[in-house]
Amino acid sequence: MAFPASFIDELVARNRIEDVVGQYVSLKRSGANMFGLCPFHGEKTASFSVSPDKGIYYCFGCHKGGGPINFMMEIEGLSYPDAVRALAKRSGMEVPEDEQYQSRYRHQERLWALMKEAGRFFHKQLYAPAGAQCLGYVQKRGLNKATVTRFGIGFAPNSWNALTDAMRKKGYTDQELRDADLVGEKNGRVYDRFRNRLMFPIFDVRGNVIGFGGRVLDDSKPKYLNSNETLIFNKRKNLFGLNFAKKTKQPNMILVEGNIDVVTLHQYGFDNAVASLGTSLTEEQVALLSRYTEQVVLTYDGDEAGQRAAQRAIPMLEKAGIQVKVLQMKDAKDPDEFLHKFGPDRFKLLLEDSSNRVEYQLNAIRRKYNLNIDDEKIKFVHEAAELICTLDSSVKREVYGGRVAEAAGISMDAMKLEVNKAFKRRIAREKKKQERIDLAPVRALQPKERSIRYDNVKSAVAEEGIIAQILREPVLLEQISELTREQFSVQLFGRVFSLLQQRYKQGQEVSLAVLEDFSPEEISHIAGVMQRQEGPVNEAAFKDCVRIVLAEHQSTGVHTDDDLMALRSKFQERKGTRA
Ligand code: UTP
Ligand code: MN
Repeated sequence: MAFPASFIDELVARNRIEDVVGQYVSLKRSGANMFGLCPFHGEKTASFSVSPDKGIYYCFGCHKGGGPINFMMEIEGLSYPDAVRALAKRSGMEVPEDEQYQSRYRHQERLWALMKEAGRFFHKQLYAPAGAQCLGYVQKRGLNKATVTRFGIGFAPNSWNALTDAMRKKGYTDQELRDADLVGEKNGRVYDRFRNRLMFPIFDVRGNVIGFGGRVLDDSKPKYLNSNETLIFNKRKNLFGLNFAKKTKQPNMILVEGNIDVVTLHQYGFDNAVASLGTSLTEEQVALLSRYTEQVVLTYDGDEAGQRAAQRAIPMLEKAGIQVKVLQMKDAKDPDEFLHKFGPDRFKLLLEDSSNRVEYQLNAIRRKYNLNIDDEKIKFVHEAAELICTLDSSVKREVYGGRVAEAAGISMDAMKLEVNKAFKRRIAREKKKQERIDLAPVRALQPKERSIRYDNVKSAVAEEGIIAQILREPVLLEQISELTREQFSVQLFGRVFSLLQQRYKQGQEVSLAVLEDFSPEEISHIAGVMQRQEGPVNEAAFKDCVRIVLAEHQSTGVHTDDDLMALRSKFQERKGTRA
């Protein structure tokens, strides 16, 4: 292990889970646990739990969990060693640095520095003679000098090596250029990836340049070339413009589609505009947004693709507790065009006028049907009722129900009846879904994480009990000398068991936090297992679990791989004779 075990033990002891989590989430105590709103998936009711006794956090909604190191990794997007460094700093500990980790850390810093240099280079080129045409384009798009400077907008010259040469001169290696995805490669030689393009640096929330989006200066395709994933760039987890928008005094964020829309909006004083990075909105971006705002005004392009994207984004944002409004433009395809055509005051009116998502969705349903035809009118009422019955306040149901009734020319009572019927249908659907889950206990007990399978559910549940109790009361390890790693039916539990046993024998800390060679999904799964185990450790129950695991192992008769092979072929044979 790269960090000494004793160091990690002390680190975990000094960084209590409730304090570490408490820096990000406000927690309320309820019995032995503390609860708050999950910072990872955004939600309205608290399903995120912290157990000070067990030293873990676990979200019953999104199934993320772990110890303080895992929490820092997840919430700050840090690597394991960086999370350790952050906790060490917090608790005033000196980190025994290891060569390998240090070099990865240094590499990351180099890439940040390189991207910043590249951004500066592109920006300078905009004002060089070769950049004249691009500068002309920038002016044509109505961007002023202050905006260009603020966003670090630049020009990638029409050359195969301008950037590469400049960065080499600054001391960056070809490998670093590759790792930053600034170059392509042919016959072992690198060449500039971005050529003859208007360059938008992409910043992370902290203001580091982590990628670029490069737009062509004419109508050629592809319109944009974007940085691919690198050690420092993940487009699913960032939003264009958020580094500026996070400082806004506005109570909301304007979510748009294009980089140019963001830049133009900021120029006109709408300093709360952000865009997703050429992908459709991701869960990670929604969670990020929910850390900075409580309301989002969706301002997607008026075309069909834009409207479809809006319909998809609405439930994602609402699930994260974000209030959604939808702004719709007439006579302009996007905010950029609108601002240049009609000016910021008109846009402000649109913003103030932007309807909440229910109005927006009702309008969308309304447009699908021709209300002069009875048959379509019925379908309209039916579909609108399906939407209205999902609203959580009776006032809202009354108001929107009234509008539908009016549009369809039916009475309010008839409408109420429709909504009630839709509500009953919905309940029935949900009940059926729940029954399906209840009727399939084996499936219900399967881990949410699909890489972990329970083949023998009875044994697996007992194994859960063993692992959960050992993690709370390591001394139990002394009572089960007869149990070995191979007897666990779930490989993950076997691995955890043998590692913990080994650590216990060596007098080291036995806790979830020390499981550093396990994937985040595996750690989350174990945290879930621990958190579901309630009450104090019970020795009798623990022994039962051990008995079940031993018995199940006996009865399947699987002891070695050879046994397993024999069993499989027997099974195949049986299937064969029956068929
Ligand atoms: P748009 O086509 O609306 O681009 O795509 P835009 O930035 O608003 O540019 P103008 O107004 O046409 O000049 C919206 C976003 O989708 C991503 C970019 O992030 C762009 O800003 N995109 C678009 C790509 O990643 N690749 C493409 O080829 C096109
Ligand atoms: Mn656009």
